[in-house]
Amino acid sequence: MRVLGIETSCDETGVALYDTTQGLLADALHSQIAMHAEYGGVVPELASRDHTRRLLPLIDNVLEQASVGRAQLDAIAYTAGPGLVGALMVGASTAHGMARALGIPVLGVHHMEGHLLAPMLEDDAPDFPFVALLVSGGHTQLVRVDGIGRYQLLGESVDDAAGEAFDKAAKMLGLDYPGGPRVAALAEHGDPGRWRFPRPMTDRPGLDFSFSGLKTHTLTTIRGLESNAQLDDQARADVARAFEEAVADTLAIKCRRALEQTGLKRLVVAGGVSANVRLRARLEDATQKRGARVYYPRGRFCTDNGAMIAYAGAQRLLAGERDQVGLMKAVPRWP
Ligand code: KG4
Ligand code: ZN
Repeated sequence: MRVLGIETSCDETGVALYDTTQGLLADALHSQIAMHAEYGGVVPELASRDHTRRLLPLIDNVLEQASVGRAQLDAIAYTAGPGLVGALMVGASTAHGMARALGIPVLGVHHMEGHLLAPMLEDDAPDFPFVALLVSGGHTQLVRVDGIGRYQLLGESVDDAAGEAFDKAAKMLGLDYPGGPRVAALAEHGDPGRWRFPRPMTDRPGLDFSFSGLKTHTLTTIRGLESNAQLDDQARADVARAFEEAVADTLAIKCRRALEQTGLKRLVVAGGVSANVRLRARLEDATQKRGARVYYPRGRFCTDNGAMIAYAGAQRLLAGERDQVGLMKAVPRWP
């Protein structure tokens, strides 16, 4: 079965075609990052309008890449939430319109289920069960995954998501949006020995996270440097390094704990922050010591993309699920 996947929950228009026997046939992405950069963050109305402009040409592009005609599609999957409601509506209405015109099933997919299953698109996909660390701009969660649709939330952030913390730290350091990769690049030149920032909630049991205290600590450090006229390029790099080390360490400590608690030996890491090189090094270290293994999606499937939605939709279709055509779902907050 061939499933077209559509992702429009935030600032990337993603489209892909997944075949349940042949695997991924094609994928295409248009990122709005440059458009939002001058505003320092995603402007929801601009995001919706841009998805409207980009989506149909991207669908044509993917079908052309795969030499597949519309009539050969078996279902359409789209991100139904969580995300920006106007942005979600673009994907939802396009998916339902196409499904009605073609007389094929349609499925609304949870964005985080897409991220969670993205490593399954790799040749070396993990077997179930596994522990998943989902780290994006909106979520920081540890999930036990026993199979498709069999998810148990083990812990999550009680305040900011890890990606959000990266983006806020970037702003404090005068870096552009999106902050994660920029903080990481700056941290490369930082001295890891200059400060040790707190590893929040690691000194007590449990698998929840909190990043707002670390954010405040970062701000206080920057203000202190500023007031002493010491916030030069090196000091900014040192702050970026201390911040990144703290986030990576905190996430690794909780992952190790989740593996211990569940007795599982496979860790899947997905979502935008999973692209972070220092985090990957810490996780490699933490898992190797336990005889466990880490699995990641390939680079471009760490951040938002259509392939993960096509894959998740295909698995749900195989399980016999479909939504009522015409009953669009756009759920901005979806636990
Ligand atoms: O999964 P994603 O593309 O979108 C959401 O669903 O949120 O994640 C985006 C987040 C942003 O906060 C971005 O700053 C962060 O992932 N990010 C990174 C890196 N690349 C992206 N954070 C740290 N290091 C990176 N290399
Ligand atoms: Zn995402």
